[in-house]
Amino acid sequence: METGASDIIVGMDANSRVVNPQPQSGDRQDYALRPRRLQDLVGQEQVRENLAILIAAAKQRGEPLDHVLFYGPPGLGKTTLAHILANEMGVEIKVTSGPAIERAGDLAAILTNLRAGDILFIDEVHRLGRAVEEVLYPAMEDFALDIVIGKGPGARSVRLRLPRFTVVGATTRLALVTAPLRARFGAVYRLDYYEQPAMVTIVRRATQALGVDAEEEGLAEIARRARGTPRVALRLLRRVRDYAQVRGNGVITAAVAAEALDLLNVDPLGLDDVDRRVLHTIIEKYRGGPVGLNTIAASVSEAPDTIMEVVEPYLLRLGFLERTAQGRMATPAAYAHLGIPYPEEKQERLL
Ligand SMILES: Nc1ncnc2c1ncn2[C@@H]1O[C@H](COP(=O)(O)OP(=O)(O)OP(=O)(O)O)[C@@H](O)[C@H]1O
Ligand SMILES: [Mg+2]
Repeated sequence: METGASDIIVGMDANSRVVNPQPQSGDRQDYALRPRRLQDLVGQEQVRENLAILIAAAKQRGEPLDHVLFYGPPGLGKTTLAHILANEMGVEIKVTSGPAIERAGDLAAILTNLRAGDILFIDEVHRLGRAVEEVLYPAMEDFALDIVIGKGPGARSVRLRLPRFTVVGATTRLALVTAPLRARFGAVYRLDYYEQPAMVTIVRRATQALGVDAEEEGLAEIARRARGTPRVALRLLRRVRDYAQVRGNGVITAAVAAEALDLLNVDPLGLDDVDRRVLHTIIEKYRGGPVGLNTIAASVSEAPDTIMEVVEPYLLRLGFLERTAQGRMATPAAYAHLGIPYPEEKQERLL
């Protein structure tokens, strides 16, 4: 394949987007930065408090944890929390994901290898197949595995007992988790974007762990542009560190952080090219909307799922986008951010 110019421009390829909260290969270094204990987790106060109670109560009764489901946008700490639960309970964690369990037999093999109290972490739990889910229901509810022996009229069902274990599920798309599966989780927690102070703390701890010199204002600048997402913050920090090392004296100051992030096309609110193209499309091609998700996705050459999971949640949070029954609409704040005057006829309709 020929390498076109666009391949080497940072930020043009969706998979190399520095602000894309989905995991990328460079993130592997972040493993060492993962908080291991509940008390080390920054932000998500309400979830943290609820989990502390859940853990303490289970420990007092000497029981395994109830099944837990985490949902929310990518990069906010669902996987991290699953590992924290295992650490706090002092149990083993087996990690798998919805698409990885192809057949019911695969799940049966996993389940029969669990020990009492173990955590089975199922990432992307909304992508479990139907047949697999049917096996999971009695396993979660009655700690039982129903297997059919034989074929035809002579077939009979045998019930195997499983140890009492805990399923921790994670999903970015709660709406796609089937109702019967959702009902089997005793505790369901939503992770939300982090506020600025928590983001600053996360970036500060990462600089300390990496041994990087940073001024407080430099940390704040990175935190502000990281879309309330720890994974994005850690990625931006690595790029800013490179910039500080090559173009500066190694210290991350506010100016260094701003220059480095401007060069990556990450604007002061954390929007990148794709986010801005989405807004420009709605405003310029569709007069501010309403316009459907698939139309937007086609216009900016991105997958609708990417728009829905990555671009939209953050634009909604900033108040730049509104979801209506007719489609997506750009708000006056979005016009203002792009420096486009809000059309007068729309203004009148707002009044
Ligand atoms: N509260 C936090 N404090 C510090 N670091 C965090 C926090 N939450 C997440 N991180 C860091 O952010 C990165 C992403 O977190 P994690 O992998 O847990 O997200 P996720 O919600 O599972 O994402 P995905 O939906 O893509 O699987 C990790 O490197 C983790 O160390
Ligand atoms: Mg994860």
